[in-house]
Amino acid sequence: MKILMVCLGNICRSPLAEGILKSKLPANFTVDSAGTIDMHAGKAPDHRSVETAKKYSIDISKQSSRPFTAADFDNYDYIYCMDRSNLADVLSLAKTEEQRKKVSLMLGDREVPDPYWGDIKDFDDVYQLLDKGADHIANELTSQSAS
Ligand code: 4NP
Repeated sequence: MKILMVCLGNICRSPLAEGILKSKLPANFTVDSAGTIDMHAGKAPDHRSVETAKKYSIDISKQSSRPFTAADFDNYDYIYCMDRSNLADVLSLAKTEEQRKKVSLMLGDREVPDPYWGDIKDFDDVYQLLDKGADHIANELTSQSAS
């Protein structure tokens, strides 16, 4: 099972989402992340995301930003977006109903706010939201793969 977390820059939210979800799933799951823009391609996550993850014993420092591409629809089973803008951008690249069905908001009906222009407290708030969302996703996917 392969899962992709998507935000705008792939340096703040989706790297955290990747690290958190990975920590809750068995090793036969692949978790990756991407951004809808390529502006930060090749860069490590924002130091505030790295620091926040480290506070909860998760290492995301080795990740590298990369843009979302249409090929990701074929390479992943589930694509989770952080906010409605990311969702719209990803869906605009989908060509089939099967591809569209793989895409949803990570928090169901809520958005993960962009902490980029905020401070370290905003990153901690984002962490808490992502942690809850990742619990939910991990429960769903592990019970699904067991049945
Ligand atoms: P992210 O945050 O989408 O959570 O990675 C952002 C990163 C970069 C920018 C905006 C949001 N930016 O404008 O460069």
